Amino acid sequence: GRVLLAYSGGLDTSCILVWLIEQGYEVLAYMANIGQEEDFEAATAKALSIGAKKVFVEDLRRAFVEELIYPAIQANAIYENIYLLGTSLARPVIARSQIDIAIKEDCQFVSHGCTGKGNDQVRFELAYYALKPDIKVIAPWRMPEFYERFPGRQSLIAYATEKGIPVVQTVAKPWSTDENLFHISYEAGILEDPGKTPYKDMWKLTVAPEDAPDTPERIIITFEKGKPTRIANKNDGTIITDPLDLFVYLNTLGRRNGIGRVDIVESRFIGLKSRGCYETPGGTILRAAHLDLEGLTIDGQVRHLKDVNISIPFGRLLYNGLYFSPEREFLLHSLEFTQRNVNGEVHLKLYKGSVTVEGRKAVGDGAKLYNEVESSMDVQGGLTPTDAGGFIRTHAIRLRKWTPSKQ
Ligand code: ARG
Ligand code: SIN
Repeated sequence: GRVLLAYSGGLDTSCILVWLIEQGYEVLAYMANIGQEEDFEAATAKALSIGAKKVFVEDLRRAFVEELIYPAIQANAIYENIYLLGTSLARPVIARSQIDIAIKEDCQFVSHGCTGKGNDQVRFELAYYALKPDIKVIAPWRMPEFYERFPGRQSLIAYATEKGIPVVQTVAKPWSTDENLFHISYEAGILEDPGKTPYKDMWKLTVAPEDAPDTPERIIITFEKGKPTRIANKNDGTIITDPLDLFVYLNTLGRRNGIGRVDIVESRFIGLKSRGCYETPGGTILRAAHLDLEGLTIDGQVRHLKDVNISIPFGRLLYNGLYFSPEREFLLHSLEFTQRNVNGEVHLKLYKGSVTVEGRKAVGDGAKLYNEVESSMDVQGGLTPTDAGGFIRTHAIRLRKWTPSKQ
């Protein structure tokens, strides 16, 4: 049979590639460019040199930003209040393109290098089955004939040496990473002790807040229907409007100002707890701006319903790998409705790890909700004070019949 393997160029997937050939498969390699720092040419040459029939490198950056990142920002998607879902968001785009190629290349099998303890195996495979119900999945790290043969890194290196797989002699980092345009994750290795503070030089996408410039950087982000359409830097006059370039630029700003580091112990879908560190520079800035503009432009009742019934479920389904599902389509339709008046701009200050909102302005219908006269404490007008007395007495009807517990 023909297998399309999700290939990274690293030790694990290189050994998997050769092992699959050894099992009698014809192996094609697939790499997704989702904005990670990677030498795709070298990885392509490596895959071909160890026996891949063909190698596909797909540039998925634009789809990732437009179809996954921006909707996640519109939803204020977050997992367990801390993790901005950078790995979860990339998986649907990667899996979809892998299945497209598998179909075109007549591969009955797809394969990946995820472990049997994580979320990613679930995400990839649920996406594969949703997009091609009859696809066959080979997950070597869940197959005894593979994991018993390769109980540790040393056995992989020995196998690579034996099979002529080039082993790059970089000092192996004592943790595992997953990088894309939106974030980088650090997990496993020495991070498995949740009490251990990560080394200062682990962090790759941002400078330490204390090393960031002493001068604040001020920017304006413009949103249309909850998606960013323009960014202007007040310090140096830079203006960017292309959706992909805009996000890349936000990363540049976040990186140099030390924005977007978190450290969390999270609940994996399969029931295990795991410790992860993440850097999401641009996404952290965008989230702060978007949340702020929603405060000005979305009706209060819709806003509360959205928080509970869209933001939280959407974050969970992304985390759990249920992107290609009816509930995701249902949620995204509702999300779109909530965003129709999220139009305007937010003024921000970026400074040593912090994002501070300094002002905002709405355009269109979203500007009608906030009325300075109506809300003013200094001006008579709008709501009549005596009306508020009735509002309170009405709400108090049932409370007057209730005896609060003794404190
Ligand atoms: N814990 C994060 C998540 O589940 C990051 C996973 C990183 N994946 C990886 N293959 N290194 O989304
Ligand atoms: C893995 O186990 O392959 C990476 C971590 C995860 O998927 O949660």
